[in-house]
Amino acid sequence: MSSFPVARPRRLRRTPALRRMVAETRISPAELVLPMFVKEGIAEANPVSSMPGVYQHTRDSLRKAVHEAAEAGVGGIILFGIPEVKDGTGAGADDPNGIVQVALRDLHSDVGDAIVLMADLCMCEYTDHGHCGIVTPAGEVDNDATLERYASIAGAQAAAGAAVVAPSGMMDGQVGVIRAALDQAGYSETTVLGYSAKYASAFYGPFREAAEGAPQFGDRSTHQQDPANADESLREVFMDLEEGADMVMVKPAGAYLDVIRRVRDAVDVPVAAYQVSGEYAMIEAAAEKGWVDRDRVINESLIAIRRAGADIILTYWATEVAQRLNNR
Ligand code: PBG
Repeated sequence: MSSFPVARPRRLRRTPALRRMVAETRISPAELVLPMFVKEGIAEANPVSSMPGVYQHTRDSLRKAVHEAAEAGVGGIILFGIPEVKDGTGAGADDPNGIVQVALRDLHSDVGDAIVLMADLCMCEYTDHGHCGIVTPAGEVDNDATLERYASIAGAQAAAGAAVVAPSGMMDGQVGVIRAALDQAGYSETTVLGYSAKYASAFYGPFREAAEGAPQFGDRSTHQQDPANADESLREVFMDLEEGADMVMVKPAGAYLDVIRRVRDAVDVPVAAYQVSGEYAMIEAAAEKGWVDRDRVINESLIAIRRAGADIILTYWATEVAQRLNNR
């Protein structure tokens, strides 16, 4: 009897061509979504210092960057707006002339439905206190008063040309209220992507600079999920589906791969995962120091999210990665 192995997994790893042929997981540009920031009243795009390569865009620079993403075959963009003036009710969020609505109309006239235009639906960028909703005199986020605002914001975003609205505030009942408001306003074809399993995460740190939406007091742990919980994510996901969500999201991605897998196995709708600002910043910072191989780590981080079960990945590297995939 031979003492040598008959089965040799290494045979399939021998050449790049073999490895490519047997790869179980692939990424294509169409499933990537680029998060973008547009700021009212600025003359030039403003670099976000904690996220090298990411900008607060002007209306014009946004149009250029969306054109570039569409050219590269990126599946969609998700837009965050930063208004010039903030107030207690986040009035800029549903103003037809608010920055996101104006920018959506620009983009819709530029690219139409050639790339999926998504709008993040929340209030934290628009409120002077930085919370995701209406705050009571006691300083708590008022769930049901906030739902009324979300309903109105959904209508404004749909009217401006958003194909998808993505409620990210983690208010109870948000998907149901938004679905009903859209249907009543004649937008029954507008899609709802629920940020269904969204954790109270420190990985959102750099985003708070990009979107200027840091809470001025307290935090978001009374509405976003505790990182200790995973079963709870399934409960949130099922509730959103019952309320009419067309797609669901897990956020952040890299530290929650188990949650992505469990959600993917449990539902029959597309599952998105958001590789958030802190995930981006950590890799960029380590690469800048020369401590990791930037492009390989980026690819590996995305493949891991895909392997865990995400159908759609929101990533700040979407355009770059799509261009790299096209040139291979
Ligand atoms: C809320 C929202 C946040 C992010 C996306 N939507 C911030 C928060 O919940 O505090 C974070 C995204 C990121 O970190 O990249 N509008």
